[in-house]
Amino acid sequence: MKKNKILVTGGLGFIGSHTVVELQKEGFEVIIIDDLSNTRLEVLDGIYEISKIRPEFVKLDLKEKEQVAAFFEEHKIDGVIHFAASKAVGESVEQPLKYYENNISTLIYLLKSMAKNNVPHLIFSSSCTVYGQADELPITEDAPIKKAESPYGNTKQIGEEIIQDVTKAGNLTAIALRYFNPIGAHESALIGELPLGVPQNLIPFVTQTAAGIREELSVFGDDYPTSDGTAVRDYIHVVDLAKAHISALQRLLKGKNKSKMEYFNVGTGKGSSVLEVINAFQKANHKEVKYKIVDRREGDITAAYANTELANKELGWKALLSLEEALASAWQWQLKQK
Ligand code: WQD
Repeated sequence: MKKNKILVTGGLGFIGSHTVVELQKEGFEVIIIDDLSNTRLEVLDGIYEISKIRPEFVKLDLKEKEQVAAFFEEHKIDGVIHFAASKAVGESVEQPLKYYENNISTLIYLLKSMAKNNVPHLIFSSSCTVYGQADELPITEDAPIKKAESPYGNTKQIGEEIIQDVTKAGNLTAIALRYFNPIGAHESALIGELPLGVPQNLIPFVTQTAAGIREELSVFGDDYPTSDGTAVRDYIHVVDLAKAHISALQRLLKGKNKSKMEYFNVGTGKGSSVLEVINAFQKANHKEVKYKIVDRREGDITAAYANTELANKELGWKALLSLEEALASAWQWQLKQK
């Protein structure tokens, strides 16, 4: 039987690379597009070492619309998983146009080329950020979409809307996966997260502090209305998250989707506070993390964790790995960084 050929944009990034590994494991043929703006070419070697398959790779910037069009003329693609995007919340506030161009213009070029070449399926990387501070926890997919706190968040909302309009107008079927907080690394420690500069996200900051690269972790606020006063998130192991993409893709390829565009939360369903994460890290790795409490970070919400029933039922997918396992894998990955 001919293998389905899947285009993974941003396939050398954090979530993309882990998804490529899972796709190859499941027998898909993978072609990666990445502009290498926020990753390294060596990630391809990590993917190869894990899978013993080297995916096809094309260095391409999705803003180059002629090149995107030419790519689709040259390659017969059965489905697209679209990760490529800029993702730094703070930077998006300072450089909104960079975000609208990198995340929205590129999506439009991609969708145009997909339509022109009859590529029928798209999985889109969305985010729990679309819910803002939800009124009810755990968060279900029908929770209201709140006005975005940042241009980055807005690009995820607008992206979902654009894709929905396109599915209504043509043959495209799509699934938006709303990720909660992805963390961890592949168990081989051959691929993982590569934060540029000072990490903005909690786990890379924790691992770098434990490694002595950062002196001390700042815990942003301990006066939230939560059990210990620190903010609560749903941290999901990146390998579990990667697997959700395979389930979503299979659903579209098999025509099991119930509407042309669907939305699923991808989280564990469990909320953990910042202090709980620090303690779990110390316990899992027998390694101390120095921290101090500082003021809240602007734009942060109090608590977010997913209701995952819809994804469990419809995608037949469930997060299987624990917070401790995710934090242990993040530490193993950190230890391998130079
Ligand atoms: C988690 C918790 C912080 C760093 C963001 C984006 C979201 C997304 C993932 C991106 C919060 C606290 C953090 C630190 C801390 N998508 N923290 N000290 O803010 O939930 O989500 O990243 O692609 O859209 O908004 O994740 O990891 O930054 O923070 O105390 O040095 O850790 O306040 O409570 P967040 P995060």
